[in-house]
Amino acid sequence: MNIDVLINEKDLEKRIEEIAEQIKKDYEGEEVVFCSVLKGAIFFTVDLMKKYTGDCEVNFVRVSSYQGENSTGTITMKIPLKKEDVENKNIILVEDIVDTGRTFKYLVEYVKEMNPKSVKTCVLLDKKARRVVDFNADYVAFPIDDLFVVGYGLDYDEKYRNLPFVGYVRK
Ligand code: IMP
Ligand code: MG
Repeated sequence: MNIDVLINEKDLEKRIEEIAEQIKKDYEGEEVVFCSVLKGAIFFTVDLMKKYTGDCEVNFVRVSSYQGENSTGTITMKIPLKKEDVENKNIILVEDIVDTGRTFKYLVEYVKEMNPKSVKTCVLLDKKARRVVDFNADYVAFPIDDLFVVGYGLDYDEKYRNLPFVGYVRK
């Protein structure tokens, strides 16, 4: 597979620092829980937390909807959240990418059922053109075109997550 750089390491770092500062301002005096959506959001979550200077916790949830380059449309819960990890807390769901919007829409509803103090969404990449359900993330690092991207946590059939940049597959 030929992979070209879409967003390099320096630009990722700079933009993630801005997002961390914005979140810090929005939650002044409050504690937040970064709830990382496995596996794709691991790199983003770690780097975001390293730039975040407020009080925070981390948690993980795992869902899957993809096989190869195509969304299957059905979301499977692989690692659930516990009610005590959500109830009365300010949850920020952290995702690698919003595509159709199904995953995030599902997760926001899932979290809301556990009575959080608040719930917001934060995403590294936003492919707005591909949306099939009405969904907008609260924090978006980079809006991107309709490209299949890999690296910095994102995979193609579990490969390429280890690339330190966001790349796209050249056809
Ligand atoms: P959605 O439910 O269609 O919004 O899909 C979201 C999930 O699909 C993301 O969390 C990714 O795991 C995966 N995904 C969507 N687009 C891409 C891509 O370009 N590269 C790798 N994974 C993707
Ligand atoms: Mg994902």
